[in-house]
Amino acid sequence: MAILELKNIVKQFADYTAVNGVSLSIEQGEFFTLLGPSGCGKTTLLRMVAGFESPDSGQILLDGKDIKDLPPEQRPLHTVFQSYALFPHLTVRDNIAFPLKMAKWSKADIAERLKEQLSSVQLEQFAERYPHELSGGQRQRVAIARSLVDRPKLLLLDEPLSALDARLREHMHVELVRMQEQSGVTFVYVTHDQSEALALSSRIAVMNHGIVEQLGTPREIYSQPKTYYVADFIGKCNLLPAVVIESNPSSYKIKVAECIELVLPNEEIEVTLGQSGWFALRPEKIKAHWDPRHEDGVSCVKARVKGYYYYGDGTLYEFILPNGVVLQCMLSNNRPNQASFFQENDEVFISINPLAGNFLVK
Ligand SMILES: Nc1ncnc2c1ncn2[C@@H]1O[C@H](COP(=O)(O)OP(=O)(O)O)[C@@H](O)[C@H]1O
Ligand SMILES: [Mg+2]
Repeated sequence: MAILELKNIVKQFADYTAVNGVSLSIEQGEFFTLLGPSGCGKTTLLRMVAGFESPDSGQILLDGKDIKDLPPEQRPLHTVFQSYALFPHLTVRDNIAFPLKMAKWSKADIAERLKEQLSSVQLEQFAERYPHELSGGQRQRVAIARSLVDRPKLLLLDEPLSALDARLREHMHVELVRMQEQSGVTFVYVTHDQSEALALSSRIAVMNHGIVEQLGTPREIYSQPKTYYVADFIGKCNLLPAVVIESNPSSYKIKVAECIELVLPNEEIEVTLGQSGWFALRPEKIKAHWDPRHEDGVSCVKARVKGYYYYGDGTLYEFILPNGVVLQCMLSNNRPNQASFFQENDEVFISINPLAGNFLVK
């Protein structure tokens, strides 16, 4: 059964609709992420779950029960924000013990749980330190440990890593996943950072202007985006103009950038002859060679090198297709001493496998 269910939640501020009919079902033990750009309604949604705002319409069910009438402090959940709200005059140990003292746990029970909690977040050697004696990442770990110590049903995290620098954030990704797995607590995580969402989550809801555009595993969201917005927001993506030029019961043919014909299986979407849209193709799914290649089902087209950018692990090439459209292609520098493949103005051949991309209808 779902631990948290949102049913058609709407929230307006004056005449601005911040959340516009969101329905989600979050399972026990998930690391669930709300991903979207600033202003799309992520924090508003989280605040309604926490009880700091109430929806104008819709229902929030926790463990199957409507929590409308429960004040924030009585909801079996905690929230972690960007700024670590630790008590500066309390040690790490006392900060983490605080919720248990408030709940009037016995001394023995507190001592036992603290021991377990400090070890699970690997903070034993910092137990007697004060917050100002810790790094930003350590402080955020203490804040999360404190939020998990009384085993809430849900932990809400609103951009908890955004105050940390890039290296520390990456380190914290590993820590977050470990803390979530060890505690078994369901995480509802908010971020605008798509790479963070892909790395951490069991499932992601991609939000745009108060609605959920797509819901799925990181792999689904990345490799099968359903809309232009999702393809564009997550990672790098070529979004090439395309039009349906043939439609059969089991397959259809599209013409991409006026020069590439691709046959796609007729699976999920309804297409009609003449329909236009985009072919979404990730840069790393494209192959480039000196000579034309003929492989079954794969289209090969001539292109010219416009330029390239060295990224270390790969080089991002820009190719100009015959009709002038630019195609980005990431070639992996995975061979010894390899740093470049082609030079500016070289004529090359591009191979595109239709199954490597997605046709998105307008
Ligand atoms: N208390 C409020 N009063 C008026 N407008 C608000 C309030 N809270 C949020 N908003 C507006 O609602 C929209 C969504 O905000 P928010 O949920 O904070 O987005 P996010 O967390 O995705 O950046 C924004 O346009 C914001 O300005
Ligand atoms: Mg926010």
